[in-house]
Amino acid sequence: MKMQQRIALVTGANKGIGFEVARDLARKRFHVFLGARDTKAGEAAAEKLRKEGEEDYGEITFLKIDVSEPDSIRRAAEEFSRKSDRLDTLVNNAGILLDDDKDVLTAAPEIFETTLRTNTLGALLVAQAFVPFLKKSGAPRIVNVSSGGGQLADGADGWAPAYCISKTALNGVTAQLAAALPKFAVNSVCPGWVRTEMGGPNATRSVGEGATGIVWLAMDAPQNETGKFWRDRKVIPW
Ligand SMILES: NC(=O)c1ccc[n+]([C@@H]2O[C@H](COP(=O)([O-])OP(=O)(O)OC[C@H]3O[C@@H](n4cnc5c(N)ncnc54)[C@H](OP(=O)(O)O)[C@@H]3O)[C@@H](O)[C@H]2O)c1
Repeated sequence: MKMQQRIALVTGANKGIGFEVARDLARKRFHVFLGARDTKAGEAAAEKLRKEGEEDYGEITFLKIDVSEPDSIRRAAEEFSRKSDRLDTLVNNAGILLDDDKDVLTAAPEIFETTLRTNTLGALLVAQAFVPFLKKSGAPRIVNVSSGGGQLADGADGWAPAYCISKTALNGVTAQLAAALPKFAVNSVCPGWVRTEMGGPNATRSVGEGATGIVWLAMDAPQNETGKFWRDRKVIPW
């Protein structure tokens, strides 16, 4: 019997880690919905993968989605429904780290609002909008790309407080979704420090290395592993 083609949505996939995750999943013959907020950048990224993969990659479809805008998320789900009634894996990868995110005592409220709206609420609202499609999958997965910066186990070191709080809260979203969706695998993952626009040139990992643990959770990790925080295929403390 021919195996059904698996379907994934990756948000913020026009560059950085998200692009690499989209590429890896396409290589594994997933039909990848490459999510991006900017049409030009998203179309260009999708076209790049189509050219590179030719016959060897799964289908790649650009999906316009700004995770900080509930209307954009709703429109993206409508657009998705015209192309597929099922989703196997949602990778909530889109994220921001603002330049002014420096000091918890003086950072303006807008820094916290904007960061949490994208990194935390965005992931939750995208999950809400796409759960109906995920419920049609035999092995539904949600992967929330978090960060070691959000870990509370060792306290905080003062770096990027809004970003770190947004990732701590994203881990809370992961735990809540895992409880609400017992048949799903819902996990948080830290990609490590990765050389992207966000990570900067001095980061210790390539995008390929950063994507590996995310892709593993997106397709290969045991389906009964849920409600956990991972790095390099190992559970790490919240
Ligand atoms: N790099 C690291 O060292 C590192 C470490 C730990 C965790 N992470 C996490 O890994 C994920 C990817 O980061 P990265 O390093 O690849 O960063 P990046 O190169 O800056 O890429 C971020 C991606 O998110 C997109 N994005 C931002 N806001 C969005 C919105 N409102 N709606 C839709 N897309 C949006 C960006 O789109 P535009 O191009 O339109 O801006 C871009 O595609 C993030 O969640 C980040 O927090 C990264």
